[in-house]
Amino acid sequence: MARIVDKTLLAERVVLLEIEAEKVARYAQPGQFVVLMPFETSERIPISLHNWYKEKGTIEIVFQVVGRTTLELASLDVGNSVYTLLGPLGRPLALEKYGRVVFVGGGLGIPPIYTIARELKRVGNEVCSIIGARTASLVILEERIREASDELLICTDDGSYGRKGFVTEALQELLGQKHIDLVIAIGPVPMMEAVSHLTRPLGIKTIVSLNPIMLDATGMCGVCRVKVGGETKFACVDGPKFDGHQVDFADLRRRLSMYAKEEAEALEKWETKVWRRESP
Ligand code: FAD
Ligand code: FES
Repeated sequence: MARIVDKTLLAERVVLLEIEAEKVARYAQPGQFVVLMPFETSERIPISLHNWYKEKGTIEIVFQVVGRTTLELASLDVGNSVYTLLGPLGRPLALEKYGRVVFVGGGLGIPPIYTIARELKRVGNEVCSIIGARTASLVILEERIREASDELLICTDDGSYGRKGFVTEALQELLGQKHIDLVIAIGPVPMMEAVSHLTRPLGIKTIVSLNPIMLDATGMCGVCRVKVGGETKFACVDGPKFDGHQVDFADLRRRLSMYAKEEAEALEKWETKVWRRESP
């Protein structure tokens, strides 16, 4: 059991939880994630580490309510406990001096950028972050990302905040203006694919963070398999960060939509129950 010590609604259906997880906080490294079950009867879901406090023994995660399990997680309040929490999982990003690093974060890809950008800046990289959302109210964690970056560009699809347009358009402009050594894109699959498409002809190393469905998250079940460079990889133990130029995005999209019908049914069935706090 892992107790929730703080809960903040960052935007509609987007929640930040601070959770007691002393060992995870002690060993966490940038780019890793946890797997948790809100209730004993819940599914296990992977969520990226947004931040951690070694001294306090707590971690922060940010998630969007999209289905049954995230709905269950959002129903927990400060003082309640998450039934199980396992981590830190996944390969962390190597903290090296790459030079000028550009982060591209869309939607729920923004939270994991924070600690990766902060640590890459700390070891001497020049960090520029481009974050984007559909509209102003969905731009989250602006101050934290600003603090972790040397430069911050904000985009909204509808132009209600920052510059109007997609993060990929801002990246394209930047690519024409500056020498860039590394691009790290985290967010929706089409965005990561578009970023990889932009940087491939320029030969700029590009890392993406893949989000396939996961089950055990220990490399045993094979549910999270992705195709990278023609080989099968398990995102939970080989990733979730991979070379964007090598990823088979069409295969990832196909696998992500495999259970769309069941997911929609589960959400419909549980929405009312979870908010009423009936036993799931
Ligand atoms: P489901 O019923 O499983 O699905 C509901 C809807 O969400 C469906 O439309 C479905 O297609 C979509 N969906 C389901 N799983 C995913 C997925 N893996 N990626 C994208 N869409 C999905 N989410 C966050 O909000 N914050 C994070 O920091 C975060 N980090 C992640 C890190 C990793 C390594 C991975 C693999 C996924 C991460 N996700 C994150 C996605 C998160 O795990 C899913 O949103 C969650 O499992 C959905 O569970 P559910 O039961 O609520 O919804
Ligand atoms: Fe089972 Fe990765 S989730 S092998």
